[in-house]
Amino acid sequence: MEKIIAYLEEIKKQGLYREMRYLSAPQKPHTVIDGRKVLLMASNSYLGLCDDNRLKAAAIRAIEKYGVGSGGSRLTTGSYQLHKELEQKIARFKGTEASIVFNTGYMTNVGAIAGIADKSWVVFSDELNHASIIDGCRLSGAKIVVYKHCDMDDLYKKVKEFQGNPILIVTDGVFSMDGDIAPLDDIVKIAEEFSALTMVDDAHATGVLGPKGAGTGDYFGLKDKIDLQMGTLSKALASEGGFIAGKQYLIDYLRNKARSFIFTTALAPATIAVAIKAIEIVEREPEARRVLLNNANWLQNKLHDAGFKTLDSQTPIIPIVVGDSEKALQFSNQLLEEGIYIPAIRPPTVPPGTSRLRLSLMATHSQDDLNYALTKIVQIGKRLNII
Ligand SMILES: Cc1ncc(COP(=O)(O)O)c(C=O)c1O
Repeated sequence: MEKIIAYLEEIKKQGLYREMRYLSAPQKPHTVIDGRKVLLMASNSYLGLCDDNRLKAAAIRAIEKYGVGSGGSRLTTGSYQLHKELEQKIARFKGTEASIVFNTGYMTNVGAIAGIADKSWVVFSDELNHASIIDGCRLSGAKIVVYKHCDMDDLYKKVKEFQGNPILIVTDGVFSMDGDIAPLDDIVKIAEEFSALTMVDDAHATGVLGPKGAGTGDYFGLKDKIDLQMGTLSKALASEGGFIAGKQYLIDYLRNKARSFIFTTALAPATIAVAIKAIEIVEREPEARRVLLNNANWLQNKLHDAGFKTLDSQTPIIPIVVGDSEKALQFSNQLLEEGIYIPAIRPPTVPPGTSRLRLSLMATHSQDDLNYALTKIVQIGKRLNII
């Protein structure tokens, strides 16, 4: 008990204590958080679909037809026609033979990695991969080899050392806290040379990158070369859940092996209906992606020119690295006083000494929104001696 209380006190002292903020309006550029109106620059609803009328109507139709709960796990009574329709739709969208839907992106990574790899495998993981990938690697019992962030020389050297073993190389497609894109073309070459399986987490690329909006495989024109294309339904697609798209035999294997797929109640019909509709919207409306990426590019350039450290972001995730956790928190709090919500991201989510603000943009932000945010970020950044 004392240990737990001491831990809480310690993280408070270090500016690492976490608390919730509560929304009381839909998630869109102008919303209400903790009772105050804010400009939201922190949502993963990249296409602004969380409040989309077509998605709301799809959810309502599904509720009227099927009811609310799913009532069972996917392998017992929880699989509805809608689940099958979604898995077929994802496979077509991603250009693969098949797909399988999990209840969250987190459960997808944990279940897929621990389902595929066991202690006879070696898993190579980028040092900035998402926590759910790290947890999946740990749970698998495989030998884990972490390579330097997007460093292909380091990856090559490390894979060569373990050639001959069953190998999985796993990477975020878009890194969730830095916004940069993994060099998938080089990763695929290394994998081919050493007969390794590849897995890409497209949580932040699904609906955002590539001519079809199908993610980093689509962006690099490599989708049939990536064995396990992971994605989430929870970000640009404005629903919940995650998926793996790939060859039929891999999907059949996961359906039989992935414990986070097998031992849990299926997603509710309304959630699935929203995801189906959202993929249709992504396929039909490339303009939203174009606006989103233009907005991101504009703001990233302006922040960089103002002197902020924005790393190599090429996506709607824009980090502003501050370093010190307390200062990052102060930055975020002062922005909130000006009516802008951008959270401070601190260890363990990011490496020590790299605390930051993490902006994420939506296609529905207006130029006025971006101008206002830029003015206030620069003003407060100067006041706090960050620039
Ligand atoms: C890169 C990455 N992978 C996986 C996840 C987990 O997805 P979900 O929130 O759907 O569980 C997230 C975000 O939460 C993420 O950023």
